[in-house]
Amino acid sequence: MGRYIIKGGNKLDGKVRINGAKNSCLPIMAASVLNGSLSKIIDVPHLKDVSVMIEILQYLGATVTRTEQMLHIDTTNVKNYEVPEYLMRRMRSSIFLMGPILGRFGKVRVSYPGGCDIGPRPVDLHLKGLRQLGANIVEEHGYIEAEASQLSGAEIHLDYPSVGATENLMMAAVLAKGTTVIQNSAKEPEIVDLQNFLNGMGARIRGAGTETIRIDGVTKLTSVEHTVIPDRIVAGTFLIAGAITGGRVVVQNVIKEHLDAVIAKLREAGCKIILGEDYIILEGINPIKSIDVIRTLPYPGFPTDLQAPMMALMTVSNGITVLTETVFENRFKHVDELRRMGANIKVNGNTAVIEGVKKLNGAFVEAKDLRAGAALILAGLTAEGTTIVEGAHSIERGYEQIEKKLKDIGADIVKVDKH
Ligand code: UD1
Repeated sequence: MGRYIIKGGNKLDGKVRINGAKNSCLPIMAASVLNGSLSKIIDVPHLKDVSVMIEILQYLGATVTRTEQMLHIDTTNVKNYEVPEYLMRRMRSSIFLMGPILGRFGKVRVSYPGGCDIGPRPVDLHLKGLRQLGANIVEEHGYIEAEASQLSGAEIHLDYPSVGATENLMMAAVLAKGTTVIQNSAKEPEIVDLQNFLNGMGARIRGAGTETIRIDGVTKLTSVEHTVIPDRIVAGTFLIAGAITGGRVVVQNVIKEHLDAVIAKLREAGCKIILGEDYIILEGINPIKSIDVIRTLPYPGFPTDLQAPMMALMTVSNGITVLTETVFENRFKHVDELRRMGANIKVNGNTAVIEGVKKLNGAFVEAKDLRAGAALILAGLTAEGTTIVEGAHSIERGYEQIEKKLKDIGADIVKVDKH
């Protein structure tokens, strides 16, 4: 438990190194169950969700050791195929374990996962795909049980390009008999990273990053070493932090193509952006320009995970922005909190109309989910007076030492732990 206390008004100025991507690490860690061998994963951030995944892997029988940003996972002795409810409920990404456990052991039992409360977030597409691979699935008393003596390759057409379903099905198909083709796959960079990790252990997968992924089943996997891609959402958050304070921020260790949609919008907002080999420099302006239309979409569209931070930025723009959330049904929890700080936002269904104000005012606000929490910190950086963001635990699920990194580039922010 904890909160952030921010005194707004400082312009950020400095460099931030971006850590490995949470959304790559979690499926990759789950995928380590498949090889029954050693996986060395490099650039793993220190995050709550990563710790939960380590706990789950250890529960299953894996040996996990951590040195700084490196994780060694040995799944040789994994015997357990059941993840108990108290662990599953701690994060949605626990669902990623279904594919690899089923693939390796032919059975798996998990409860419905937990995670951020940003809509119904069903797992129907995961289950439909696993059934098409030949799994017999029973959903009873809050548990999902799947069984298949041998999964068989299949043609799967996803009804929606779900990131999690694409990843789960890729992992399940690695040891299946024959070829699996996933159509209408999600194209997120984290899926390409998972493909590279799996191929590193001997899988035969092509097409990640496009609509069609093809997995030729193999019978044997080996140990693997892999460096996780940089976190494009964390990078985007720091760029927006630079923009909201009218400062100058350099984000280092980024793959700039992963941020194309975000860079385009920040340029529309009047920011000057310079692209380097593996870094991006942002120079803000004051006031920031409003952006006519922002629409979240699956990659390569504007990421839903940066919708809340971008909304925070638009609250202090010089005009009106229409922002539509198309990926999740219930992802406007930051709106009421931003209003407490003086933001002018009207919501109609999945569309928010934001009319920029000259200044936000510091207030006591609550981080109701991970990205909403980040947005409130950003708002606090520009607000007049002191902002208290309650609910540090939500933010720590996805941001490693955000207060330290912001402080290092000039923010007045401290984290206070509550006991
Ligand atoms: C992943 C990311 C999350 C990001 C999201 C969208 C991880 C660990 N998390 O979440 O940060 O916000 O992608 O970019 O990588 N859906 C269904 N049925 C399903 C699965 C999903 O209807 O079986 C719906 C969801 O309710 C949601 C939409 O599809 O409305 C997108 O979800 P999905 O792409 O699966 O997101 P996640 O994998 O949960």
